[in-house]
Amino acid sequence: MPAETLTIIDNRTGKKYDIPISDDTIKAMDLRQIKVKEDDFGLMTYDPAFMNTALCRSKITFIDGDKGILRYRGYPIEQLAEKSNFLETSYLLLYGELPNKAQYEKWVYNITFHTLIHENIKKLMDGFHYDAHPMGMLISTVGALSTFYKDAKDIHDPESRQKQTFRLIGKMPTLAAFAYRHSVGRPYVYPDNALSYSANFMSMLWKMTEADYQANTVLVKALDVLFILHADHEQNCSTNAMRGIGSSHVDPYSAIAGAAAALYGPLHGGANEAVLRMLDEIGSKERVPEFIRSVKAGNGKLMGFGHRVYKNYDPRAKVIKKLADEVFEVAGRNPKLDIALELERIALEDEYFIKRKLYPNVDFYSGLIYQAMGFPVEMFPVLFSIPRTVGWIAQWEEMLMDPEQKIARPRQIYKGPDMRDYVVMSKRK
Ligand code: CMC
Repeated sequence: MPAETLTIIDNRTGKKYDIPISDDTIKAMDLRQIKVKEDDFGLMTYDPAFMNTALCRSKITFIDGDKGILRYRGYPIEQLAEKSNFLETSYLLLYGELPNKAQYEKWVYNITFHTLIHENIKKLMDGFHYDAHPMGMLISTVGALSTFYKDAKDIHDPESRQKQTFRLIGKMPTLAAFAYRHSVGRPYVYPDNALSYSANFMSMLWKMTEADYQANTVLVKALDVLFILHADHEQNCSTNAMRGIGSSHVDPYSAIAGAAAALYGPLHGGANEAVLRMLDEIGSKERVPEFIRSVKAGNGKLMGFGHRVYKNYDPRAKVIKKLADEVFEVAGRNPKLDIALELERIALEDEYFIKRKLYPNVDFYSGLIYQAMGFPVEMFPVLFSIPRTVGWIAQWEEMLMDPEQKIARPRQIYKGPDMRDYVVMSKRK
C-alpha cells in the first residue's frame, strides 16, 4: 500500500515534510510547521472564495458537480422530488433518516403547531414602507424573532435547538406571506393548520374573503417539489454564512437573518429574479443571438447559467423543466419560456459556454414557474429562503455538534503599509 501522505520539500530550506492525506485532503494546519526561521508564522494556504478548501466534514448533502448528481443523506434528489414531500425531506435532512409513520405525524404536528407569529411581529411588519422588498422584510423579521424567544440563546441545549427548529420551519412561511401581503396592501391571513405546509403558505398568500382557501392541487405539489429542490445544497454562500455566524454561538434566528442576507444577492438566491429581468430585457426570441453575443463580449452574464460546483446540467434544473409543463398547463404558459428555451438551445451549442462548462442552474427555470403561479419577482428569493431554512438549520446543528469546529476566523496576507507615525491634520498633504 502506498503511504497516504504528501511529501513536501521546502526549497527555501531543503527540509522535507510528510503530510498525512485523508479523504483526498490535507489539513491546512499541517502546513504551519513549514518555516524558514523558528519564529516564522509558518506556511498558510491562500484561497479566496474557498475555491479548493473543505470547511467541514458533512453527512448531509452530496454533490458531484461533474456528473450532475445531488443527494440528500444519500437519496437522489430526483427520487425525493417524485416520491417525498417537503416536510418529510426536511426531517430526512435534519435527522439523517426518513421518518416512520409515527415520527412523521409527530413532526408534521410540531411544525404546524408553530406556524403563528407574535402579534408584535405583525406590527413590526406594518412599519415597513409600502414598497419595501419582501426579502428585506423577511431578513429583518426573522432576525427579530430572537427578541421574542430568549431560550434560543441556549444553543447547547438540544431541547432548545429542537424548539427553535420547529419555530423556524413553522414560522418562515408565515413571515414570508405577511411580507407579501404587506407589500400588496392586503390584510394578513393567519395560518390554517388543516392545510399542508405548501397549501397553507398559498392560503396565507392568496386567500381573499372566502371561508376556506382551495389551493390548486397541481400548484401545491409543484411548490412542494420546488421546496424540496431548494432545501439544501451543501456549502453554498448562505450556508457558509450560517455556519460562520453560528460558529460565534449566536442564536439561530440571528444566524438565519445573516444567511438569508447572503441568499438575497443576485449571484446566489437573487439569480432567479435576475433571470426574469434578463428575459424581459431580451424581449423576444429573435433577440437571443444578439444578447448572447453581448454576454460573450463581456457585457454582463447569462443569469441562471453556470455554477461553482456543477460543471454539468444542474439536476434540479432538469426536475424543474419537467415541472414547468405541469404548472403551465394549469396556470397558463409563461410567454418568456420561449425566450428561455432559445437561450438554452443557443448557449448549449456555443463554444464560449461549452468551453467553460456553463449549463442552466436551478434558477434558470424556477422563476418562470413562480411567475406563472402568480408570484411577483420580488418574492423569488423569499421562496428560496423558506425551504433553505431547513438546510441552514441542519448544517448549523452539524457544525455545533462537530468537535473539530471552532469560531470561524480566516487568516489574511497583510499587504498594507508598514508601521508609520500619526500625522496631525495641518501637516498632511
Ligand atoms: N454567463 C456568462 N459567463 C459566465 C457565466 C454566466 N452566467 N458564469 C460564469 N461565466 C464565465 C466567467 O466570466 C468566467 O469566464 P473567464 O474564464 O473567461 O473569465 C468563467 O465562466 C468561470 O466563471 P467564474 O465566475 O469563475 O465561476 P464562479 O464559480 O466563480 O461563479 C456563478 C459561479 C454561479 C457565480 C457564476 O456562474 C454566475 O455568476 N452565474 C450567473 C448567476 C447565477 O445564475 N447564479 C445562481 C447560481 S445557482 C443557485 C444558487 O446556488 O444560488
